[in-house]
Amino acid sequence: MNISKNIRKMQISDLPEVLKIETELFSDVWTEQMFVEEINTQVSYVLELDNEIAGYICGWKLYDEFNITNVAVSKKYQQKGYGKLLVDFIITEIAKENFHILFLEVRESNLAAIKLYERVGFNEVGRRKKYYKNPTEDAILMNLNNKINIEKEDNER
Ligand SMILES: CC(C)(COP(=O)(O)OP(=O)(O)OC[C@H]1O[C@@H](n2cnc3c(N)ncnc32)[C@H](O)[C@@H]1OP(=O)(O)O)[C@@H](O)C(=O)NCCC(=O)NCCS
Repeated sequence: MNISKNIRKMQISDLPEVLKIETELFSDVWTEQMFVEEINTQVSYVLELDNEIAGYICGWKLYDEFNITNVAVSKKYQQKGYGKLLVDFIITEIAKENFHILFLEVRESNLAAIKLYERVGFNEVGRRKKYYKNPTEDAILMNLNNKINIEKEDNER
């Protein structure tokens, strides 16, 4: 079964479930208004499994770069490959639009997310001091050069 078929654009009607997951997972939660902005002006997808939202991914387009701003998989569905599925999905979507560099920030203590990003090919390129609040923490800045990855895959065929 092709699970990526269960990924679709986030809609306003998804927000009660999305906010429930957001509150379950994060200490500095995004507000409903932030998700509304994301739906109206940026990029946001949800993964729907068994008629419920299992996870979501959001990002911003900045010239030819793309910033992954939020990735979440509800606890019930974690460590089953869905986080990787969402990140792989957005990398593929963004490649279609010629965004070559993807970047993101992640809390330095968030080992699960760091492992996930490394797994899909992101590398640490820097740090932002005290970037996060509640609790205050440095961000690790990670990049993925999408063009290089796609060319590599093409050569491997
Ligand atoms: C980070 C998160 C999205 C990962 O989602 P997931 O569906 O559990 O991840 P996956 O099952 O796709 O795992 C992909 C890889 O991530 C790593 N990983 C995931 N969870 C991990 C954990 N708890 N500990 C260590 N590594 C982990 C593994 O390397 C895994 O690769 P593997 O197949 O070799 O094991 C999820 O843990 C989450 O929602 N966390 C809370 C929200 C969050 O921190 N978001 C990121 C903000 S920057």
